[in-house]
Amino acid sequence: MKIGVLVCSNRKKGNCETIGNYINKKFSNLINLIFLRDFEIKECNGCMRCVFKNEKCELNDDLYKLIDEITKNDALILIAPTYVLTIPGKLKMVIDRFLCIYEIIKDLKIKPAISIGVASPIDWDQFQIPFMNIFLLALGYKIIDSFILFGAGPGEVLLDENLYKVDEGINKILNFEEKPYESTISDKCPVDYNKNFEHLKNNKFRCPVCLTPCYLRENGFYFDEKDLNENRWTKEKMKEHFEEWILKTKERFKKLLPQIVKKKNALEL
Ligand SMILES: Cc1cc2nc3c(=O)[nH]c(=O)nc-3n(C[C@H](O)[C@H](O)[C@H](O)COP(=O)(O)O)c2cc1C
Repeated sequence: MKIGVLVCSNRKKGNCETIGNYINKKFSNLINLIFLRDFEIKECNGCMRCVFKNEKCELNDDLYKLIDEITKNDALILIAPTYVLTIPGKLKMVIDRFLCIYEIIKDLKIKPAISIGVASPIDWDQFQIPFMNIFLLALGYKIIDSFILFGAGPGEVLLDENLYKVDEGINKILNFEEKPYESTISDKCPVDYNKNFEHLKNNKFRCPVCLTPCYLRENGFYFDEKDLNENRWTKEKMKEHFEEWILKTKERFKKLLPQIVKKKNALEL
């Protein structure tokens, strides 16, 4: 068993690196420590050639090297600092390259992952977990734990009383068995651990990350297993999204083009 640990902070000897080193020291023979800062990642230019022409991305950077370094392991631990309520831009830039990554990961078997966000103890981290977990879901991982540890100055995170959750998370990875989601009542979505819900009507809400509906009860939200197992990140739903929407946008656009040109001309754009 090899567990990739992806550290996503540029700050040397900072809190994310400290957690990475903590894991590496305790479980060294299992760990493949990866630093996002060692990889050059360019911004997606939206050319869509990876989708419509099935070509490798033309951007000359380390994206494929990074994806290979991550996916060659049997599991992943993602560690990222919180920047302005959410993840640092470089990690988002990797997520934005999802269309060209999809070809590589779509047929891989489902592997477990955990995410550990690091934030200052000031209640400024509401989008950290959802964004970190969008990265994991986009890469096809099953998220089996996800939490924030708090610490501002470098190394301060070691004082967080919840540090033990790191060890617990690794044990969950070691004991992982892939099985369907089960119905549950929880304050967070079982698919992506998001706690920010959209209100639909009456007691019905949904998780905006995975689109699973949930129903407010006295002691939390009820998630039904049927809905959980049909969330938008399942292999079937992703395939459908690519084949029925993304690939078809080309024909759709061709049909709309005369109208677009007409409107542009009318607006003198
Ligand atoms: C640019 C920047 C923005 C930050 N924004 C937030 C924030 O919105 N919420 C928060 O809790 N912490 C924020 N922090 C604090 C970091 O998340 C915190 O110090 C973390 O421990 C950094 O991890 P590192 O030492 O691995 O880089 C910010 C830090 C930086 C440098």
